[in-house]
Amino acid sequence: MSPFVLTRALPLDATAAALRADVSAGLTRTPKELPPKWFYDARGSELFDEITLLPEYYPTRAEREILVDRSGDIARATGARTLVELGSGSSEKTRHLIRALPALDTYVPVDVSESALRGAAQTLLAEHPDLSVHALVADFQYGLALPETPGPRLLAFLGGTIGNLLPDERAVFFRALRAALAPGDALLLGTDLVKDERTLVAAYDDAQGVTAAFNKNVLTVINRELEADFDPDDFGHVALWDARHEWIEMRLRARRDVVVKIPSLDLAVSFSAGEDLRTEVSAKFRREGVRAELASAGLDLTHWWTDEQGRFALSLSVPASLPL
Ligand code: SAH
Ligand code: AVI
Repeated sequence: MSPFVLTRALPLDATAAALRADVSAGLTRTPKELPPKWFYDARGSELFDEITLLPEYYPTRAEREILVDRSGDIARATGARTLVELGSGSSEKTRHLIRALPALDTYVPVDVSESALRGAAQTLLAEHPDLSVHALVADFQYGLALPETPGPRLLAFLGGTIGNLLPDERAVFFRALRAALAPGDALLLGTDLVKDERTLVAAYDDAQGVTAAFNKNVLTVINRELEADFDPDDFGHVALWDARHEWIEMRLRARRDVVVKIPSLDLAVSFSAGEDLRTEVSAKFRREGVRAELASAGLDLTHWWTDEQGRFALSLSVPASLPL
């Protein structure tokens, strides 16, 4: 039997319908906004991988440092036989964890990007021919239908992607994760930490313009999938720090008055010069906030590890023994 299985939890037309719904709702409200998951077509996933190599984008290096140092501790604390990873992308950092888990039998990467899942599985299976890889093309925010796999299970959500969810979305999401965990299972969560504004803004507005291209990629996705006529040159890339919410916002700012036609939605969207479309929030965290959000969902924080410079944290949590 092939050690690689790929399941589409969402039929192709459901993805198209979700994009149509998000674009028609998000571009007709004030202020305009779109959910960040639409960045990640094949090109967007490639651009994200380029971002992880930029000198300004520290989160990937910081989290990798923790994984290299702490994967042995994680393996001892969890004894995981199945590793489920949400928003796994290239699974590049996960390799450190996989190497350190002696009892690991099955890896279940979950992502909206099928191209990222296939590329990651190919690389991983070359390194671990005995590993079963069951990839899931799915939206992790909607009904986590995980395959039956051996326990204990370690559910990993790395990269700080949790910060791309708004606080109320995080509350729903953490409760869904808690419901997916059996006694003995654990959650490994990567969170980027609050730090000085200069470092944060530079990480989202790099000198080479890769993050700007990533941000504008959502317009290319909408042009292709919904036959819209966005001209990416009509928009500038904006990254700003919102100190009240402690999150970075990425926006696309209209350089002039623009009218975008989206015939497949029977929609014309007007942007005034200087008007913003919010494309992403990337929340930054503190230990107490992470502990409290997890506790509200019935998860007890058991371990908290940071990189040497205290830029990023990995935490381990387990289902609370007392019901909520
Ligand atoms: N975990 C990797 C990749 C982070 S990039 C790392 O740490 O480097 C975020 C990943 O999450 C992308 O691969 C993107 O396709 C995926 N993603 C974003 N929103 C998603 C959603 N709602 N459901 C499933 N995957 C999602
Ligand atoms: C995937 N996610 C954690 C990234 C972040 O840092 O919020 C996405 C990203 N956006 C701009 N650069 C990277």
